[in-house]
Amino acid sequence: MEIVVRPTAEAAATYAHDLLVEHVRRQPTTVLGLPTGATPLPVYARLVQSHRTALFSMQSVTTFNLDEYYGLGLKHPASYTAYMSRALFDHVDCPASQRHIPNGLAADAQQEAADYEALIAAAGGIDFMLLGIGRNGHIGFNEPGSDFASRTRLVDLTPSTLAANAPFFADGETQPKQAISMGIGTILQARRIVVLATGASKAEAVRQSLEKPAKTAVPASALHLARDVTFVLDQACAGI
Ligand code: GLP
Repeated sequence: MEIVVRPTAEAAATYAHDLLVEHVRRQPTTVLGLPTGATPLPVYARLVQSHRTALFSMQSVTTFNLDEYYGLGLKHPASYTAYMSRALFDHVDCPASQRHIPNGLAADAQQEAADYEALIAAAGGIDFMLLGIGRNGHIGFNEPGSDFASRTRLVDLTPSTLAANAPFFADGETQPKQAISMGIGTILQARRIVVLATGASKAEAVRQSLEKPAKTAVPASALHLARDVTFVLDQACAGI
């Protein structure tokens, strides 16, 4: 496991962007795993910029997002489908047929999860996974206690995650309490994982994740079991 610390959140995002772009340049058919949240937004902004200046193409890339709220309209601004369109997909050349996000409106969530897992396998697995981390150490929507062997499935969100994401829903609006998320086992199979964590609010989650042995109370600590992981932090998150 490698830990890289950059002075600012912006510099950390640039570093993560560069790793991703380099990977796709080397392997244009890269299968990418992609996160949502505030943390990766500057990475996506840089990818869009790199695409505009013709340094980066997603023409042959396949993407799998980590998760999606269950029961939320895909056009709802807080849905991860809408987020990905706004942040990245509307501005780059990745064909729609090569982009995957769990369908949060699937009638049968278990079937949708199994189909998603099968699609990842059919694509040959994830080559490069960009990850964020929740304040409680979650990755994707794998909340504390999630089995390290878990696969894509319907999950219940914890009160702390619901509170963290509440600002994205209008007052009085029903906030989804479940999501379809890639499992920890699915994530661990990625051939390369880059975790981007910035800001003091993530420092404790990162510190606990880096502690050995890995324990299910801290989902991101499972990353000790993955083959090639880089944590990219800013100084505020690294506590220096
Ligand atoms: C959500 C997502 C995670 C993300 C986390 C942190 O819960 N499901 O994939 O890592 O938020 O988000 P942020 O970067 O906004 O702190």
